[in-house]
Amino acid sequence: MKKYISDWTVREVIRKGDVCLLRMVLEGDDPELFPDIMPGQFVQVKVEKSPLTYLRRPISIHFVNSEEREIGLLVQVIGEGTKIIAGVATGEKLNLIYPLGNGFSLPVNEDKRQRFLLVGGGVGVAPLLLLGHRLKRLGFTPDFLLGAFSADKFFDNKPFEETGNLYLTTEDGSAGEKGYVTDHTVLETWNYDFIYTCGPRPMMKAIAGYALSKGIPCEVSLENTMACGIGACLCCVEKTVGGNVCVCTAGPVFNILELQSWRGLK
Ligand SMILES: Cc1cc2nc3c(=O)[nH]c(=O)nc-3n(C[C@H](O)[C@H](O)[C@H](O)COP(=O)(O)OP(=O)(O)OC[C@H]3O[C@@H](n4cnc5c(N)ncnc54)[C@H](O)[C@@H]3O)c2cc1C
Ligand code: FES
Repeated sequence: MKKYISDWTVREVIRKGDVCLLRMVLEGDDPELFPDIMPGQFVQVKVEKSPLTYLRRPISIHFVNSEEREIGLLVQVIGEGTKIIAGVATGEKLNLIYPLGNGFSLPVNEDKRQRFLLVGGGVGVAPLLLLGHRLKRLGFTPDFLLGAFSADKFFDNKPFEETGNLYLTTEDGSAGEKGYVTDHTVLETWNYDFIYTCGPRPMMKAIAGYALSKGIPCEVSLENTMACGIGACLCCVEKTVGGNVCVCTAGPVFNILELQSWRGLK
């Protein structure tokens, strides 16, 4: 898939704690610069104004509004790069390379009785919203299962509620069911046809273990540390059954059966 590099204008910034939602608009009307974006794909954001951040930072695409030539990014401040990205103001520009990576696979079977579970934690929920939008567009009603430490750690649940069924877990019990995502009763209620997950690696491994034990196909989106984002520096390598691959080009989405150390998790 062809990659683009363009300046995007920040239309709106919404902040909550250490996370912010950036609504970014691509000005002009060149349709080629706004390609079809797969859920799970990401952008590499150029970080200006700091000598420490000459490498771009990978951020998932949270939503796409093609008519408005708009995308959303959900950014959690971790270090210098994300601090600068999250600190942009409305009207400023960010330079993006996009769309990168492979993306989640979408169902080929049109049976609308199929049930899809999308499990996220932290800013790992970001690519799952776009995936939910695509599943909804295909006529399915996705189930989102999102986990956090406490109710105030969820950024904004409304877009998920508008897209599918939303189930929550919190470690302190302040929202949804108390415990981890793997403790939620929805896992016992439905026989899912497919599970997608993105978030902290221990959470994804626990979900992968559940999926393997039930024989449910499962895709995970890995957030390996990246530098170039285009398969040139080899810093994001992951061991698969087919050998070592770059997560930035062969991923970030993998079927768990492809990942060498994930296959025996059940
Ligand atoms: C494909 C992909 C999609 C991503 N999507 C999002 C997203 O939608 N929203 C979002 O907020 N973040 C996302 N990330 C993570 C984000 O890229 C990192 O948090 C960011 O690069 C950190 O840069 P920094 O300069 O703020 O921190 P740095 O100063 O580079 O690092 C600070 C600390 O965080 C650690 N760290 C850096 N990157 C990662 C990482 N990827 N995973 C775990 N630890 C890391 C470093 O080792 C260091 O200890 C994604 C990462 C990948 C690979
Ligand atoms: S980030 Fe350079 S090869 Fe993946």
